[in-house]
Amino acid sequence: MTTPASPDHAEPWYLLGAGNMGLLAAHYLQRAGFTVIALRRDDAPTLERTLLLPSGGPVPLQLLCERATPAPTRPTPIRRLVVACKAPFSAAALSGLPLAADATVLRLQNGLGSLDGLLPAGARRVEVVSASAVKRDGDAHRVVAENDTWMGESAAPGGPAAAEPPAWFGPLARHWPKLHWPDDFRHRQWRKLVGNAVINPLTGLHDVANGHIFEDPALAAEAEQLAREADRVLTALDPTWPGDSLPGVRALADATAGNTSSMRADMQAGAVTEIDAINGWLQRQADVLGLDLPAHRRLVAAVKARHP
Ligand SMILES: NC(=O)c1ccc[n+]([C@@H]2O[C@H](COP(=O)([O-])OP(=O)(O)OC[C@H]3O[C@@H](n4cnc5c(N)ncnc54)[C@H](OP(=O)(O)O)[C@@H]3O)[C@@H](O)[C@H]2O)c1
Repeated sequence: MTTPASPDHAEPWYLLGAGNMGLLAAHYLQRAGFTVIALRRDDAPTLERTLLLPSGGPVPLQLLCERATPAPTRPTPIRRLVVACKAPFSAAALSGLPLAADATVLRLQNGLGSLDGLLPAGARRVEVVSASAVKRDGDAHRVVAENDTWMGESAAPGGPAAAEPPAWFGPLARHWPKLHWPDDFRHRQWRKLVGNAVINPLTGLHDVANGHIFEDPALAAEAEQLAREADRVLTALDPTWPGDSLPGVRALADATAGNTSSMRADMQAGAVTEIDAINGWLQRQADVLGLDLPAHRRLVAAVKARHP
């Protein structure tokens, strides 16, 4: 069931990255009454997919499509965009896309900084951190877990509190289960980042499930060093960062013990990984601060050596 249209619903959402997470977001946006148009690399007029939700049967999803590259001539630039391609493809996906100077962009990607320098200076960037999990299941997309999702705009450390949610957030949150706009968004985003920065490259390099990390003393020691180094950078960026990431990482690894991380899946498939947006982001922050992160440096090099 969808919500009746309101003036705020008149502006469509464009979707760059109609994959696992992008389609889940499109489903919630449609349920909330918004029009969603997928930006594709072919000329198909519509995209038809099936979502398998944890509760209930298969949900057919139909999206209007427009060609993303080369972008067709359009009467008005894009004002609302969801970016849900994998982080390394952001620059290619956004290249030539006519975005309005004040466009709102939802960044639904792991890691941080993948859209830096790619958006108009006046764009409003809303970051999305989701603990949900979606994966391909034959021709369908299976929502393995519908967990919490947080949206927010990260204020600079020491800067003013993050802004109030935009007008579209309330209607969307009524149809997107467990969607929040928390005051402490940046810390939530960083917690997810540290979890990814420890679990993803270790499971990818050693080709193990998430739960294996803390069962293996050598990997557990490496995880501890990675978490400690991440805390050092994040505390330098923001003295209010609690600086005790390891127990949270361990709890995440336990809660997802049987899962294959996205980096392990990418490495198994020989695909480019998101390491630059995850551990690479921490390294870039450390470089600016004059800190060294030997464990992260080693892992980034090792992952890239396998899959440049
Ligand atoms: N899946 C999850 O459970 C999950 C959970 C939390 C966060 N995330 C994050 O969400 C992001 C997306 O992950 P995902 O699992 O949804 O990936 P995915 O299933 O591979 O989807 C990515 C989509 O991006 C599209 N794409 C790539 N380059 C494009 C371009 N130049 N123009 C238009 N579309 C392009 C791909 O299109 P084609 O199909 O045509 O190649 C694909 O459909 C990642 O940052 C991931 O870390 C995922």
